[in-house]
Amino acid sequence: MSQSTDHLPILLIEQNDRIFNDIKSLMAFLAYDTVYLSSVDHLPSAIEGRDYHLVMLGAGFTQAEQQLALESLQAEASRMQVVLLDHSPEQGEAYQQNFSCVIGQLQTPLKHEALNTLLQRAEEFHQTMQPQTTESFKEILAHVPKLGGQSAAIQYVRTMIEQVAKTDASVLILGESGTGKEVVARNIHALSNRCKQHFVPVNCGAIPADLLESELFGHEKGAFTGAIAARQGRFEMAEKGTLFLDEIGDMSLPMQVKLLRVLQERTFERVGSNKSISADVRILAATHRNLEQHIRDGKFREDLFYRINVFPIELPSLKERLDDVPLLLQDQMDKLQQEKRGSVQMTESAMAALSEYSWPGNVRELANLVERLSILYPQGTVDVAQLPAKYLPAKLKSSSAPFNPALMFASDETDEFVNAPVNEDSSAFFQEDATAVAEPVTITEEGLDLKEHLAQMEIQLIQQALEQSSGVVAHAAKLLKMRRTTLVEKLKKYGIKA
Ligand SMILES: Nc1ncnc2c1ncn2[C@@H]1O[C@H](COP(=O)(O)OP(=O)(O)OP(=O)(O)O)[C@@H](O)[C@H]1O
Ligand SMILES: [Mg+2]
Repeated sequence: MSQSTDHLPILLIEQNDRIFNDIKSLMAFLAYDTVYLSSVDHLPSAIEGRDYHLVMLGAGFTQAEQQLALESLQAEASRMQVVLLDHSPEQGEAYQQNFSCVIGQLQTPLKHEALNTLLQRAEEFHQTMQPQTTESFKEILAHVPKLGGQSAAIQYVRTMIEQVAKTDASVLILGESGTGKEVVARNIHALSNRCKQHFVPVNCGAIPADLLESELFGHEKGAFTGAIAARQGRFEMAEKGTLFLDEIGDMSLPMQVKLLRVLQERTFERVGSNKSISADVRILAATHRNLEQHIRDGKFREDLFYRINVFPIELPSLKERLDDVPLLLQDQMDKLQQEKRGSVQMTESAMAALSEYSWPGNVRELANLVERLSILYPQGTVDVAQLPAKYLPAKLKSSSAPFNPALMFASDETDEFVNAPVNEDSSAFFQEDATAVAEPVTITEEGLDLKEHLAQMEIQLIQQALEQSSGVVAHAAKLLKMRRTTLVEKLKKYGIKA
């Protein structure tokens, strides 16, 4: 009986009814549906536009039929993985050498451990790859992160993306960390003719140099210690799609030579194999480093630079487009809400204050701030007073207001949240008149929860005392002229860590 499951089905190409029934029952037990083909003739229509967790190919077909079936499956190697059933070890080995889509062999009756290992590998494969999609162009774009902002600088970037997307040119995306280099890469892919194929990212800086080669080009079984099975590389996974070489400035020189060869010849070999595999892959690369300086320092090859830098796109830092800050904040707040990850709003004054900040971490820092605020003030409206001190404009930091909560922890070093109550109208914070800035919290028409307000002030003063006494509770208690045990009680009550 077929079960409804979260898994993609297994495609079983097998002539033997008994083997089919055994495998089907086992798969149903493991919560997989099984699609059955008793002849290879119908394989093309069975795989067109459909995805399978794994394809199992029986040994009962003629060599010509096997060859044909594997060729059809190989053409879909970026979304399909194959396991051979009951082939002789030599035959299986030969197919594995020639068809990268073949990831292993099994003998019936299936052994749980061997089967599980291959199912697991297929799972990892599907997780790495974006799901193959039959979505419309519009639906594809809806899943791509939006490049937010309306400044001239970001509009220029959008124009560049639209111009280059439809070509197959290599693009080098430059910009400080957090400016959206990956967002740009995903947009180029989504707008390209390759959009229905895979976008495969590789972080060249995060993968140890000695593993990067096999990560990019794959390896054969036994190619090195630990290579217990053959494995596809990212180039193969990106076949007919886009490969995004992130942090390319961190790639070692020997690896740069190997990459250059692939880009020039459009073929590569898996580690441990002599067989050339052709690559139809569009290359996008990104780095936050100054590659021209790297070339002068002998850390980056000039010939590779010219290969990948066919079309450069340079992203502006956020401090060069501060006008975009309110829009980006609103985008991030909307996104949190849509993804049901939280909900928070911000007053215009808070947005104005944030438009004066220098944003060294760029849009990533902005997105993180919105997320943190949504955790601290769920469903709330954040005003200037509730922003972490480091985000406050200098004029607020330097003021000597006695109870202006925004000033409590104002310092460039601290990222502490001030934890102050919302002051509905904080326009006073932006008046040039220093006396207006010094005004304490006023009671609005809606009134003020005095108990809550005093509790917040108590928290702030306790935190300040703790800071001044480097977290030593006994010293903080002395500063606050209270007994140490009383302070410990208050720390517990408010959940403050010394
Ligand atoms: N212009 C933008 N519009 C909307 N979101 C953006 C923009 N730029 C960056 N982001 C968001 O900021 C975060 C970081 O973006 P991304 O990973 O693309 O940056 P990056 O330039 O690749 O950074 P790094 O060099 O550190 O890898 C992501 O959550 C992304 O969605
Ligand atoms: Mg990045």
